[in-house]
Amino acid sequence: MNNVEKIIEGMTPLQKLSEMTQLNGAFVSASDAEITGLAADFGLNRENIASIGTVLNFTDAKEMKRIQDTHLAESPNKLPLLFMMDVIHGYRTIYPIPLGLGASFDTELVKKCSALAAREATADGVQVTFTPMVDLVRDARWGRCMESTGEDTYLNCLMARAQIEGFSKGNPEPGRNLATCVKHYAAYGAAEAGRDYNTVDMSEHTLREYYLPAYRAAVDAGVDMVMTSFNLLNGVPAAVNKWTINDILRKEWGFDGVVITDYNSFRETVAHGYSKDTEHCARLAFETETDIEMMSPCFIKHGKKLLDTGVIDEERLNRSVRRILDLKEKVGMLDNPYGAADEALAAELFLSDEHRAVCRDAAVRSAVLLKNDGVLPLSEDIGKVAVIGPHAKSGMIGFWSCRGRADEAVSVYDGISAVLGEDRLVYAKGANGEVREKSDAVMIKEAADAASAADAAILCLGETAKMSGEGNSRVDISLTDAEVELIRAVSAVNKNTVVVLFNGRALALGNVIDDAPVFMTMWQPGTEGGSAAADLIFGRRDFTARLPVSFPYHSAQCPLYYNRMSTGRPKPKDDKHYMYKSNYIDYPNGPLFAFGHGLCYTEFEFSEPVLSSSVMHTGGTIEASVRIKNVGKREGSALPQLYIRDVVACPVRPVRELRGFSRVTLKPGEETTVSFEITEDMLAFHRPDGSFGADEGEFHVYISRDGESGSYAEFELVK
Ligand code: BGC
Repeated sequence: MNNVEKIIEGMTPLQKLSEMTQLNGAFVSASDAEITGLAADFGLNRENIASIGTVLNFTDAKEMKRIQDTHLAESPNKLPLLFMMDVIHGYRTIYPIPLGLGASFDTELVKKCSALAAREATADGVQVTFTPMVDLVRDARWGRCMESTGEDTYLNCLMARAQIEGFSKGNPEPGRNLATCVKHYAAYGAAEAGRDYNTVDMSEHTLREYYLPAYRAAVDAGVDMVMTSFNLLNGVPAAVNKWTINDILRKEWGFDGVVITDYNSFRETVAHGYSKDTEHCARLAFETETDIEMMSPCFIKHGKKLLDTGVIDEERLNRSVRRILDLKEKVGMLDNPYGAADEALAAELFLSDEHRAVCRDAAVRSAVLLKNDGVLPLSEDIGKVAVIGPHAKSGMIGFWSCRGRADEAVSVYDGISAVLGEDRLVYAKGANGEVREKSDAVMIKEAADAASAADAAILCLGETAKMSGEGNSRVDISLTDAEVELIRAVSAVNKNTVVVLFNGRALALGNVIDDAPVFMTMWQPGTEGGSAAADLIFGRRDFTARLPVSFPYHSAQCPLYYNRMSTGRPKPKDDKHYMYKSNYIDYPNGPLFAFGHGLCYTEFEFSEPVLSSSVMHTGGTIEASVRIKNVGKREGSALPQLYIRDVVACPVRPVRELRGFSRVTLKPGEETTVSFEITEDMLAFHRPDGSFGADEGEFHVYISRDGESGSYAEFELVK
C-alpha cells in the first residue's frame, strides 16, 4: 500500500469531506467569533475547518506558514494544506494581461512570463495556480476577455499549452514550478450578451468544435486540475454537469487529476433553479466526479448523511481524496508543509532586473499598432512632447495581479521622460468623464493648450483596471464622450497626436478612429508598460503583435469574430447597405480592425498564395507558400497567417479558420518565401455522427496578414 492509500485508510468520512473542501486562507486562522459567523453561513465548526485540505487566497510566505502551522497544530491527521492562488499574468512583477500575451502570437514569450511568475509565486508560498483560463471569447462586452488569449480556438490551444509548460516546467530549480488548473470548464466565455455568469446555450457541435478544444489541449499538456464554471450549459449548471465532467472530461479525455468547482458555484445551483437546497445540490454534485468544492459547504454539510443513508458510498469519497493527495504528493507538500516558500528568495526575485527586463520585452511584443498615418516613430530629437490623459501618470497592471502594485509600475509619462528628460515634457490630465477635479470642458481645454505648445501629443486613454476582469462586463465598449472630445481637441491643435490605449478587451473605435493619426493599444501591459510604450513610440523597438480579437466599429456588433459562418444571403462587399442581404443599414458587418491585424514601422507586400498541388490525396500533404517582400524603409517582422475554408460541409464550416502562422524578419528590400505544410488533420471537424475527420471536396487556402483580407488558392481533397 502506498503512502496515499495508507493516509486514506486512516481518515474518517468527515475528514475526507473536509479534505474535499476549499476555503479562504483566513478561515483557518479565524477567531472563535469568526467561526461562529462561518457556522451560520456554512455550517462549519472548528473540527471541519481543522481538516480542510486546500486553501486559496492568502497574502505571502509568512502568512502561508502561519496558516499551515495553525492547521497542523489543530488537524487530527496532520495533512498539510495545499495553497492555491490566481497567478494569472505575474505575481509581484506583472506581465501583460493574457489577452496582450495572446496578441504576441509568441508561445516562447508566454512560456517565459509564466515561468518567471511561478518562480516568484512559489517563493511566496503558492503551490497551485488557477491558470490557464482558456475560455473562447467572441463577445468583447464580457469583462473576462482580458483573461483569455482571444477569439480563436487554434491560438487558444497553443497558448494553453505554452502557459502550462511555462508554469509547471519552465524553471529548472527544484520547487520553483506551480501545478496548474485550466478553467472555466465549460464554455464560460459564451455568456449571453457578454454579461458575466450568464446563461450559455449552444449546440454540441459548436461546443466540441470551437469551445472544448482548448480545455482538451490543456488536459493533453498535463494540466493538474480542471475548474468547472459558473454558467448554465444547455440548462444544466456546469458545476454539476455529468455529461461534461464524467462523460467528456473523465471518460473521453481520460483526465484523472483534480476537478474543482469555481467559487461558491455548487451553492449557486439553487439560484439557477437547478437544485432546491444545498442538500439537493450535494446529491447532484456527488454524481459528478468533482473533487474539491471551493467556498461553499454542500459536500461537508450533507456528505455524511448521504453516506449513512447509502446515497453515496465511501469509495466515491476515496476517489476524490486520492486525487487531492496525489497532487499534494506530486508538489512535495506531503514531505515539506512549507513547500518552496522562501521569504529571502521572494524579496530577491520580486521586481528583479531580470524579471523586469522580460516584462518590458513582453509589453513591447504585446502592443498592437492599430493605425499610423506616418506620425510614429517619433524622433528622439523632437522638441517638447505633451503627455496627456488620466492614465498618463499611472502604471497599468490590470485585474488579477496578485501582489502586483500599480504604484510600482512604470507609467507612460515616466517611460517618455526616461527617453527625453522631464524638462521636455508637458503634462495635462485631460478628461475621461470620470476624473472630477474640474469640469471636463476645462480639463480638455488645458490639455489642448498643452498640446498646442508641443511638437507631439501622447494621449493615454481607455479602460482602468476595474473596467474589465471578473464581473466587469460593459454594454458600451467605446471610449467615453469626454475621451472622444479630448482626442478631437488635441489633434485639432497638434498633428502629431498619438492615442495610446489601455484596455482589457477589444474596444469599439468606429466613432473616433478618423480623429487622430495614430492609435495603438498597450492592453494592460504590467510593471514595465510605460518603458515599453516609450521603446515603441520612439522606434527603439518595432511593433510585432497582432490582434487576437476583432475590434468592432460599434458595441452593438458584438458578438463579432472572424471565423463566422456565411449566411444564405451574404453581403457582396462591406461598402454600403444591400437590400435583402444579411447586413446592417448603419454599420458594416465586419470589424474596424480584423483578428490578426497589426502594423509595424515597415510595409510588406504579400503575393497570392501558391499550392504545390491542386489535389490532396488522403494521407498526403500539400505545401502552401507566399512570397513576402519588405517594401518599407526599415527592418521589420511580418506574421503570415494560414487560413483554410472547407467550402462545402455538413455542418457548414466557417468562412475561414486559422491553421498556422509564422514570423519572418526582413531587411528593407529583402524578400522570402514562407511555406506551410497542409495535412489532412488540419481539415478535420466534428461530423454529425460523432466522428472526427476530413471530408472530400474543395478547400480554400489563404496566407494573409489578418483574418479578413487576402485572396485564396484552391485544392481538392480526394479520398
Ligand atoms: C473566478 C475564478 C478564480 C476563483 C478563485 C472566481 O471568482 O471565477 O477564475 O480562480 O474565483 O479566485
